[in-house]
Amino acid sequence: MLATAAAAIALIFLQQAPAEDIDWDAEFGVEERERDPATGEFPVDPYEKSNANAGAEPFANGRLAAAFGGREGIRRIAERTVELSEADPRIAEIFVAHDTVRLKRTLSEQFCYLLGAGCDYTGRDMRATHDGLGIRTADLNALVENLQQAMREAGVPFAAQNRLLSKLAPMSGDVVER
Ligand code: HEM
Repeated sequence: MLATAAAAIALIFLQQAPAEDIDWDAEFGVEERERDPATGEFPVDPYEKSNANAGAEPFANGRLAAAFGGREGIRRIAERTVELSEADPRIAEIFVAHDTVRLKRTLSEQFCYLLGAGCDYTGRDMRATHDGLGIRTADLNALVENLQQAMREAGVPFAAQNRLLSKLAPMSGDVVER
């Protein structure tokens, strides 16, 4: 009887794969995502693309875009804002595990669209995108400071900086959760 139990236990151990052979991602249900080789971005769940997702109507007059250095200048400012935020100890943690390659592109499209520089916004809407990120007012203030630094570095006149901020400010209700 004892021998049978010992044999059964030995059999159970023998059947288990050594730890190094275990696919831990599969065991814990971790999904493997691969970056698109062309864009460097991770795929996202399907959603309806529309400029309405940008959260505000664009400025009608293209003059403001010129103050930002046109499309190229706007792209650099959006990218710099993301880079500063990823390196900012106040909010860096919120960006970990998110696709900042995509964020740089879509934030740049959003600014370009809002500033009337002739881009379309292809990202998700503000409420859905930020849902569950637990963003606080203090986090929003930190991000705005980083955007202000990026605009200052790019030599955007103060009045023009404030016009972009005035477009973004009403979106805070969709972004801040607590
Ligand atoms: C009015 C203020 C804000 C605007 C206009 C804005 C804009 C955007 C845009 C356009 C996207 C990309 C959507 C997409 O790719 O489909 C995005 C995503 C994201 N934003 Fe914001 N954002 C704001 C505030 C913030 C703040 C305060 C934080 C954190 C401190 C933050 C963290 C993120 C993160 C982590 C993502 C990626 C989400 C994901 O990949 O699922 N955002 N935001």
